[in-house]
Amino acid sequence: MTALIERLQEIVGSGGWTSDPQDLKPHLTEWRGVYEGRTPIMLKPRSTDEVVAIVDACAENNTPIVPQGGNTGMCGGAIPDESGKQVILNLSNLNRIRDVDAENFSMTVEAGCILAAAQEAATAAGRYLPLSLGAEGSCQIGGNIATNAGGINVGRYGTARSLVLGLEVVLADGTVMNSLRSLRKDTAGYDLKQLFIGSEGTLGIITAASLRLFPDPGEMATALVGIESAGAAVKLLGGLKTKLDDRIESFELVSRRVFNLVEKHIPNATIPFAEEYPWYVLIETATGGDPQILENALLQEAEHGRLLDALIAKNSTEAANLWRLRHSIAEAERQEGKALKHDISVPLSRMQEFLLKGDELLERLRPDARLIAFGHVGDGNLHYNVVLPRELAVEEWVAEGERITRALYDLVDSFNGSFSAEHGVGQSKRAYLASYRAGPELNLMRSLKNLLDPANILNPGKVI
Ligand code: FAD
Ligand code: MLT
Ligand code: ZN
Repeated sequence: MTALIERLQEIVGSGGWTSDPQDLKPHLTEWRGVYEGRTPIMLKPRSTDEVVAIVDACAENNTPIVPQGGNTGMCGGAIPDESGKQVILNLSNLNRIRDVDAENFSMTVEAGCILAAAQEAATAAGRYLPLSLGAEGSCQIGGNIATNAGGINVGRYGTARSLVLGLEVVLADGTVMNSLRSLRKDTAGYDLKQLFIGSEGTLGIITAASLRLFPDPGEMATALVGIESAGAAVKLLGGLKTKLDDRIESFELVSRRVFNLVEKHIPNATIPFAEEYPWYVLIETATGGDPQILENALLQEAEHGRLLDALIAKNSTEAANLWRLRHSIAEAERQEGKALKHDISVPLSRMQEFLLKGDELLERLRPDARLIAFGHVGDGNLHYNVVLPRELAVEEWVAEGERITRALYDLVDSFNGSFSAEHGVGQSKRAYLASYRAGPELNLMRSLKNLLDPANILNPGKVI
């Protein structure tokens, strides 16, 4: 391995690698501290050519590569295993914005570009990159695409997949698939870029992407609404959609218990209602020049009994405060301690039924468990997280966790839902992919993996 390490160091040059335990530390543990791995070296290439040379060298030595972006992923996908033999390929230095084409409503960025930086570049050109999530200050475009990230604007603009027009990908054999075209229409054969979106570094290394941009949506109206149940949220969304149509940018559901955690752990976070409600929705709409548009629509919804209370942000500071509450959930949950994270989706029309069945299930399996539910309800995507009693011994926690998760995913499956809505599979859900996608789907996934990476050097132990 020493010869390989020396060759890799030469490829990236000084400043392009580290083996220093202190530097490596944050790259060997994921954001929630659930997975920990080891590596002999982390490489930070500055060009696609350097990525190619790294892949060639590792392929010759049969050494696995773990691509890593901002390391904000939730499933351990960017963390090497404990063997100490997997090399981390961190994309942070490959971060240029190659081009913003305002007339074509597109931009071309390198994989290591931080999402917030890409958003800013689009805004500076009078355009809008709608992908938005709590980790946008540190996650990277390559990681967003590799996980097919969702976030808060999916209802209107779709997931990362729908924003990708073209990709540049380094394949396991060291060739570069350059489909970095900025076209809306292209029926020339199979749409190969789709394979790499959501593949979590197991099929190729994304080095650049061409992204779809939108017109600036202009002024926004933001409201926090108190509601009775998750089912009421679905009805409210239906009512608002008929009035506001695609002006609805975000529609985020949060349970009271989740906001309690935010108030407990996040400094100066206060839910701005005098009364408590069982559930809340945070709604953002483009006003289209009519600042009253959301308020009027909510008043009509209130007449139909679809909400209990509503607070409209009076200015951008109030709106930002509301969004701070929402974006702090992951941090508050992390500080509270380990939860069983379930990132699931079911058809929107069956959300309320699912929640009722989920409650029954939890009550039956573990009456002392606490449900922490929030999510992107407009997309049918819930973060249905479960906190087990702190007193459980580690082995019991693990066994109970597996029992509850399996029963819950069976329930999701019976709704024709997904056990992985937006965070991906990584290490944590690999066994579940094998059971819930078993049959022709999984066989085809395995065939594709074998075809594209026969020696299994790209992120082995993840996804498949
Ligand atoms: P990493 O964590 O570094 O990597 C994720 C996976 O992608 C790994 O398997 C890695 O190997 C692979 N990968 C990374 N870069 C590349 C590349 N260039 N080529 C090939 N493979 C690559 N996710 C959502 O979907 N919606 C949310 O609302 C959301 N909110 C979040 C809020 C917080 C506070 C946090 C911490 C996370 C949140 N996430 C959310 C999860 C996470 O931020 C996203 O999944 C994000 O897209 C990961 O990007 P990253 O650059 O950090 O990728
Ligand atoms: C969110 O919606 O806040 C994210 O997906 C993060 C999380 O699930 O914790
Ligand atoms: Zn989410």
